[in-house]
Amino acid sequence: MSTIKRDGFGSRFGVLVAVAGSAVGLGNLWRFPYMVGTNGGAAFIIVYLAFVIVLCLPIMFSEFVIGRRTQSNAFGAISKIAPRSGWLTIGVISVVASICIMSFYSVVGGWTLDYIFKSFSSSFLTSDSSSLSSQFSGFTESSFVPVIMHLLFLAISALIVVAGVKNGIEKYSKILMPVLFILVVILAIRSLTLDGAMEGVKFLLYPDFSKITGDTLLAALGQAFFSLSLGMGCIITYGSYVNKKENLFKISFSVAAADTGFAILAGLAVVPAVFAFGIPPGQGPSLVFITLPQIFAQLPFGNVISIAFFFILMIAALTSAISLLEVVVAYFTEELKMTRKVAVVVTFVIIGIFGTFSSLSQGVLKDFTLFGKSIFDLFDYTSSNILLPVGGLLVVLFVGWRVKRADVLDELTSGGTVALRKSLFTGIMLVIKFLAPIAISIVLINSLI
Ligand code: PHE
Repeated sequence: MSTIKRDGFGSRFGVLVAVAGSAVGLGNLWRFPYMVGTNGGAAFIIVYLAFVIVLCLPIMFSEFVIGRRTQSNAFGAISKIAPRSGWLTIGVISVVASICIMSFYSVVGGWTLDYIFKSFSSSFLTSDSSSLSSQFSGFTESSFVPVIMHLLFLAISALIVVAGVKNGIEKYSKILMPVLFILVVILAIRSLTLDGAMEGVKFLLYPDFSKITGDTLLAALGQAFFSLSLGMGCIITYGSYVNKKENLFKISFSVAAADTGFAILAGLAVVPAVFAFGIPPGQGPSLVFITLPQIFAQLPFGNVISIAFFFILMIAALTSAISLLEVVVAYFTEELKMTRKVAVVVTFVIIGIFGTFSSLSQGVLKDFTLFGKSIFDLFDYTSSNILLPVGGLLVVLFVGWRVKRADVLDELTSGGTVALRKSLFTGIMLVIKFLAPIAISIVLINSLI
């Protein structure tokens, strides 16, 4: 028996806010719009939505089942069910993927911090794309400030994780997430009503399936996993803090719906504006940082809206960052018996160093590449397109073939208190056992050849 008293979520609303807080983040507002832009628009969105419904939901149930059943960190959870087995790879992937993701996530979190400060200056907002684009590259390619911002963002996340989740960010997320939602809706409306926005709407609505390649499928799968925080033990870890009575179905559906809603809204806020302003949609990571300030420039009180937007974006990134850190910290405290403080410091140092390299790879270390990718891109690509899909694949195989069927049923019905039709349960098990593993394998293999 472990003597550490485990923290846990206080209420159903607390669980929802925390899991949605993990899911909704830079993945929706920064990564989704530029992935849509680089991968051909509507066709990518359709594949993405199909993956969320068919693959991600079952994986989310599976991760919740493992976490709540075992009440442990990702590694400990697997070893409770299948000690000293190959399945522990899931635990290893979780810790490695969290570190890889944070090593670029925290850098982008730092960019959002810097853009809050930039928004105070009246000369920042302009409708000139090339000026915004050179502001962005001038900033990210410099060495000192972006690294400091990355460390600052990481330090804030670390402080919240030391304090525990219940009384910190959860309380603020309840207010800030709805405000973020309203702001993104306003931006989407403004973007859709710009002259020339229709081209962007067409790009989002009319699929050109000839654009779908093996790589696009993998990109959509990676994006879906990334956005829903799947395949790397995050939902296992958060699931372990969920009360036995909560309905795991409801939580999963609500989180997936909120996350997808935010992504689509972000797409509507960014892509029409991209076309209206004549920015190439395939820009990559700079897209949001160039497009949105241009919309702000065309709104009354643009500076105020810009400050508010980047501030809330930073908060959304924080609620995701703490869930990433929590995976590593829970592992260090429960498996390696570190105190929470020591665990957080060790995690801070590791990610602080990796993140510094990934930040510098935008500028001075630009020419240092591996497989044609910069350090920043390597962390992003390896985690989203390799570690998360492989992690997700192993999770469904584990729940489908290794966890006892009766235990899965017990968790999904919250100990028999939630009604679940037999046919529905059989359907879910078929997806978890066969459909999901086969589909993920096909996408992975397809992109290899
Ligand atoms: N889902 C988060 C986002 O969209 C990122 C994340 C990935 C968080 C994996 C936790 C685990 O920003």
